[in-house]
Amino acid sequence: MNERPKILVVYYTQTGQLKRIIDHVLAPLGGKADITFEQLVPVRPFPFPWGKQEFYDTMPETVQGTPRGIEPLKVDVNAHFDLVIMAYQPWFLSPSQPTAAFLQSEAAAGLLKDKPVITLLGCRNMWLNAQEKVKGYLQKAGAKLVGNIVLVDKSPNLVSLITVLRWAFKGKKEATRFLPQAGVQENEILTSDRFAAPIAAALENRQWDKLHQQLLNLQSVELLPNLVLLENNGISAFRFWARFISAKGGPGAPERQGRVTMYRSLLLVGIFVLTPVTLISSLIKLNLKRNELAREVEYYKGITLR
Ligand SMILES: Cc1cc2nc3c(=O)[nH]c(=O)nc-3n(C[C@H](O)[C@H](O)[C@H](O)COP(=O)(O)O)c2cc1C
Repeated sequence: MNERPKILVVYYTQTGQLKRIIDHVLAPLGGKADITFEQLVPVRPFPFPWGKQEFYDTMPETVQGTPRGIEPLKVDVNAHFDLVIMAYQPWFLSPSQPTAAFLQSEAAAGLLKDKPVITLLGCRNMWLNAQEKVKGYLQKAGAKLVGNIVLVDKSPNLVSLITVLRWAFKGKKEATRFLPQAGVQENEILTSDRFAAPIAAALENRQWDKLHQQLLNLQSVELLPNLVLLENNGISAFRFWARFISAKGGPGAPERQGRVTMYRSLLLVGIFVLTPVTLISSLIKLNLKRNELAREVEYYKGITLR
């Protein structure tokens, strides 16, 4: 008897964008595989739309990897799966809190051990550090990362920043006279079903070694060099502010709100100044350190952990 392969999809989504991406990627596998969806549920929900203060107050624990807990999983942690798809979104250049809570859990240790895992991201455009963290969690769990697919908002960095914040704070995703729709472009989502064929072939042969290169050939990860530089600057600043804010108390503590407000004000100034500055410095570095930066881009497009 030829049993259908079993796929477990673990995900969290606030607006439903990530679930739509998952559904499009997996649509061609319908009828060919048994797919189990495990939606992560935080013990106390994160709001959407967000209050501004709560949004920024969520940064320290997200960056430090000390997330709010999640409800017990529905899936049997001893069940067998041929493939796990870890679908997630970055928050503050780190895996979103529900994702981190899952990856740190004992349930994940059981589900992921010796399993091939594909990571699937739907985000704005800054996901490199988050993916490094996820690679670390997967390695610790004894899982084997076999592919990565990243859908980003392809609008210019500052445009996507404005639209994602409008979306997060007001719940408004639609385009305006001056701004495009927030989030990953519709066409990127609709065409993400192209990734199903190599996944199906790898599942059938239980051969994972070539999968990531095949996905890359289908543009599963596209990466601009200046975003590598921008993100490296950003994460150092976030780590500093995370320590500075959390020194005054835990999530929501009144004692730390003054520092959250400081961070909130400086962050936007920082980004609007840093984006053009890193664009210029990346043009310079692109010329001076062309090879080094090209190696960085190649590394981040890959699935190894250094
Ligand atoms: C608190 C918060 C922080 C975010 N930080 C990032 C980030 O660092 N990089 C990025 O590319 N997108 C970031 N985003 C956008 C999300 O990755 C995601 O695309 C968006 O929230 C919609 O996802 P969802 O509806 O599937 O949850 C952030 C969103 C939220 C709510």
